[in-house]
Amino acid sequence: GTIVLAYSGGLDTSICIPLLKERYDYDRVVTVAVNVGQRDEEIDVATKKGKKLADRHYTIDVRERFVAEHIFPAIRANGSYEGYPMGTSLARPLIAQEVVKIAQKEKATAIAHGCTGKGNDQLRFDFIIRAAGFEVVAPIREQNLTRDWEIGYAKEHNIPVPVKKDKPWSMDENCWSRSIEGGRLEEPDFHPPEEIFLWTVSPEKAPAKPEKITLTFAKGVPVAINGKKMPGYDLIQKLNVLAGKHGIGRNDMIEDRILGLKARENYEHPAATVILFAHRDLEGLVLTRSELAFKRMVDDKWSELAYEGLVYEPLYAALNAFIDTTQERVNGSVDLELYKGAVRVLGRSSPQAIYSGDLVSFDSSSIDQCDAIGVSRYFGLQARIVHAMGGKKPEK
Ligand code: ARG
Ligand code: SIN
Repeated sequence: GTIVLAYSGGLDTSICIPLLKERYDYDRVVTVAVNVGQRDEEIDVATKKGKKLADRHYTIDVRERFVAEHIFPAIRANGSYEGYPMGTSLARPLIAQEVVKIAQKEKATAIAHGCTGKGNDQLRFDFIIRAAGFEVVAPIREQNLTRDWEIGYAKEHNIPVPVKKDKPWSMDENCWSRSIEGGRLEEPDFHPPEEIFLWTVSPEKAPAKPEKITLTFAKGVPVAINGKKMPGYDLIQKLNVLAGKHGIGRNDMIEDRILGLKARENYEHPAATVILFAHRDLEGLVLTRSELAFKRMVDDKWSELAYEGLVYEPLYAALNAFIDTTQERVNGSVDLELYKGAVRVLGRSSPQAIYSGDLVSFDSSSIDQCDAIGVSRYFGLQARIVHAMGGKKPEK
């Protein structure tokens, strides 16, 4: 029968092609590479290798949809996991859905992926594949394969190995984020070499002069840089270059995976860092205190579901509905300074600002300050009564 393989051109997914024939008895392997904004070289390699190694290959471009359907919601939800802007998890559902479509078209009986049995991606892929009614085949997981074994097997099968033995990084990339893990990076105290970073310079190599930019938002998503309107994908790529040049958006962390394993992860995500920072700031100007407090909880729950790739969970749609309602008012501009690895806000403005300079100003008299005296008499009343008891315990 035919099996469809989610294909990246990397080591794990490349060795899956012969494995599916030798160890699983599939006679036809169809590979699918999905373009979610990884560098052109990555897509080119996947396309060339897929065409060479598989019986049939597809490369599918979903960049615009990825931005509209996954990155934009992530911006509105301030989507982050354990402090970093999530990236891989946002793309997995869409990649899996595209692979499912090809599997239906090719009348395949099963879908394969190259994830290990240790990470998060296996769960994100399996969820979508099973929801579509396909059987999952995960050779790396099922055969308990290690990377050393994979490199030997690849050589036997004339599969070019993109990773060298001394620096076998495992990477994942989309236009929102790059992740780099594996090899010596698995030692939590190993200092990451500069070469793992492709989108950002180190802050010390960044220009000595700060750069000012203005980011404009409409309904919670960025629509223009310095007043110039552009489609979401272009805006993100432009900002990746701009902020990357200033060394913004690196993370080195110990991450808690879904299974409970702690993993050492390196990320770079220049545009994501800047956009999420500006978005949060603008929300502070236009949302009420109640909205902000409640939305923090909603954002956390949204992020948890997105991290797990559970986009069919009904709660995910319900949270999106709440978030979208709040974002109707998130319009305006944020002036930012990019400098030596950091982004800071210089100023912000919005037609929907819940801000009255007239009321809050030290210099205006449109509020009668004496009105606050009555409020102050009641403020903290219960705590004051308890405090007046002097902390004494009641007698028995
Ligand atoms: N730890 C990150 C996440 O779970 C990155 C995973 C990277 N995946 C990969 N196949 N290299 O989203
Ligand atoms: C993998 O283990 O396949 C990659 C890392 C992850 O999925 O978290």
